[in-house]
Amino acid sequence: MAEFRLPANSRIRKGYTYRAPDADRGRNVRRLRVYRYDPEGGATPRIDTYELNADRAGPMVLDALIQIKDEIDATLTFRRSCREGVCGSCAMNIDGVNTLACTKSMADIKGDVVVYPLPHLGVIKDLVPDLNHFYAQYASIEPWLKSYTPRPSDRERLQSKEEREQLDGLYECILCACCSTACPSYWWNSDRYLGPATLLQAYRWLADSRDEATGERLDALDDSFRLYRCHTIMNCTATCPKGLNPGKAIAAIKRLIAERET
Ligand code: SF4
Ligand code: SF4
Ligand code: FES
Repeated sequence: MAEFRLPANSRIRKGYTYRAPDADRGRNVRRLRVYRYDPEGGATPRIDTYELNADRAGPMVLDALIQIKDEIDATLTFRRSCREGVCGSCAMNIDGVNTLACTKSMADIKGDVVVYPLPHLGVIKDLVPDLNHFYAQYASIEPWLKSYTPRPSDRERLQSKEEREQLDGLYECILCACCSTACPSYWWNSDRYLGPATLLQAYRWLADSRDEATGERLDALDDSFRLYRCHTIMNCTATCPKGLNPGKAIAAIKRLIAERET
């Protein structure tokens, strides 16, 4: 089994090891190494080790974390809700990749399961990142339908099948923040760069045939930091657990801006 080692210059200290009562001392054990941090306690972050009976650990990483919280260490803190990959709340860094704990199979991970919070965000506690700024950025793009033409009195605002299809690959975004926190440009400029999740959502409204605010939306995005800090590195698309392509959506916004300027 590969040994997880902290980097030599790490400020994270080694933590405690806990073993489930039915984990068989060294045999048939599934080991999770989990980031722990409690700012109220004032202690340096640490990596705790949890040893579970391999036959009962899983099948998903979220199942293992819930088992730890229920049976071994009630202080372990993480977000989760749907357990179905639709709420986005269990996003974390597992085995070096930002993903959803509820859809990440334990069987897909060789050796120890290493779990950190999403990177480059403040940590509220353990695996819970501070997403306040991320949500404020999302709110800043005014993510709702803006239509200035009165709605027909006898029906909803309708779309053709083709118009509706323009939203495929966009409406599925669950705002889990895996992509934004995998983006190097967002790591260094998140105070001003909107990041791939918010930009994909911005394009979702630009692509909606019922929305009539295209001009003002593009005006708000046409900024060297808010949009153009994207350097097409594509980490965002590589990590999206829903298989979406934020890099493509960002390119589409840039194209819309270029087209209106010609
Ligand atoms: S684009 Fe994908 S990774 Fe990014 S917030 Fe949406 S679902 Fe999550
Ligand atoms: S394509 Fe743009 S948004 Fe995606 S990771 Fe690269 S720089 Fe970030
Ligand atoms: S718990 Fe909802 S996406 Fe994982």
